[in-house]
Parts: sequence; C-alpha cells; structure tokens
Amino acid sequence: MREFWSLSLAVSSGVLVPRPETETLVEATLAVWSEMTAEASHEPRAASRAQRAESRELSAESREPSAERPTIVELCTGSGAVAIALATEIPTARILATDVSWRALRVARANALAHAVAGRIAFLRGNLWQAVNGQAPAGSVDLVVANPPYVPTRDVATLMPEIQWEPRLALDGGADGLRVQRDIIATSPERIRPGGCLLLEIGADQAEAILALLGKTGRFETGRIFRDLAGRPRVIAARRRDG
Ligand SMILES: C[S@@+](CC[C@H](N)C(=O)[O-])C[C@H]1O[C@@H](n2cnc3c(N)ncnc32)[C@H](O)[C@@H]1O
Repeated sequence: MREFWSLSLAVSSGVLVPRPETETLVEATLAVWSEMTAEASHEPRAASRAQRAESRELSAESREPSAERPTIVELCTGSGAVAIALATEIPTARILATDVSWRALRVARANALAHAVAGRIAFLRGNLWQAVNGQAPAGSVDLVVANPPYVPTRDVATLMPEIQWEPRLALDGGADGLRVQRDIIATSPERIRPGGCLLLEIGADQAEAILALLGKTGRFETGRIFRDLAGRPRVIAARRRDG
C-alpha cells in the first residue's frame, strides 16, 4: 500500500507507484476548479436555469463550468491516484479515467472501490482520448488532467534501481520525453469547453517545451506553472480559449 493525498492505495508491478510530487497535479486542479466556479458566480449572467439550457441548445459549446456536475477526464490514470483524490475532493464530479493498461485499470478500479468512489469514476481502456469516445463529446469537458510518461527513452535505463521494476509504459515518453504530452496537447482542445482547463504533470526541465507546444496550437491561454514542494516546475495548467 502507498499513501497519496492521505489515501491508502494498492499498487502492483503493473502500475507506477504514485509520487508525492503528483500531489501538485491534484492541488493545481483544485485551485483551477475553484477559480472557475468563482468566475461563474461573479459573471453577470445570473441567468435562470431555463435561460442557460436555452443558450446551451443554441451553442453546442458552453463557456460556463458545469458547476453542478463537472466532467473531469484523467488520461493515463495508472493506480487511479489522481482520479480518486479528485473524486474525494469534488464529490459532484463525474470522472472518466483512462489507461492503455488493463493491469493498471484493475488496480485503479479496486482502489476506487476501497475509497467508495467507484460509482463516480468510469475506468476506460484505450489510447488517450480513444478510450472515452462517445462519453465526452466535443466541447464538453471542464478539466483534463494527466501525468503521462515523460522520461526520455535514453534516461529510462539510468533511473534509480527501485524504479526499474515499474512498467516501462508508465515512464517512457519517447526520444525527447514529450511524445505523449504532444499527443495530449494536440487532441485535447476539441474536447475541452471554452474556459475549461488542461493540466499536465511535466518533468522539471520540460516547462518551456510544453508552454511552446501549447502556444503553437493557438487554442489555449498562456499556461501557468505550478511548482512542487522542492520548488521545481511540476504542472502546467492552460485554459482553453473561446473559439
Ligand atoms: C506516469 S504513469 C501515471 C500514473 C498515475 N496517473 C500517477 O500519477 O501515479 C503513466 C500511465 O500512463 C499510461 N499510458 C501510457 N501511454 C498511454 C497512452 N497512450 N494512453 C493511455 N495511457 C497511457 C501507463 O500505462 C501509465 O499507467
């Protein structure tokens, strides 16, 4: 068992052991979600529920957070640590958590059951967004979070011995470490609603490259860096622009 966000989680040789620095991803997500809900309550659109429903019919994409039931997608869930922490912190959230590994998803589901949040998290298998096809229509997702593999291939072999038994699939981010990040950044904007947010855990030396990739899409506001307890850049959060 491992402790993450004060939750006891089972791990196995099929999943990455959740790291303390990944708690920064949970903190950043909660901070952004709290800003999004505060913005919504201050906007002069104190429209009635009926008016909001009508405007949603006119435009498939709504800028308003789904305050009553936010949709959160976690790509690359592994042990389910991040999804489960978010489910306990945002009890109204509907969470879709994906991974390519059946072994990881089995562990994640068992962890969710142990923490009584399995009814609010759908665990789906597949390559990134392919896993959620149909369950998260375009422009519908409030928050996308991911701690994807981001270690450059040549560095995987030199990681500390205790990390060597962890699945390579959970660590290896391709030649420059950014292969999965690049894919997530390219495919997420169409799923996130305007004003929604993408939050990515990154390697300490990847902030500049990730900010550049986000900027190149033209679909995000300037990304914000969140640092871990050691002061290293650990998470980048970028809100989706209108349009
Ligand atoms: C760094 S681990 C993160 C696990 C967990 N979210 C955490 O923070 O402890 C990355 C996870 O991504 C999964 N993964 C790797 N490539 C993937 C892909 N293309 N689509 C979905 N999941 C993927 C791996 O199986 C692994 O469980």
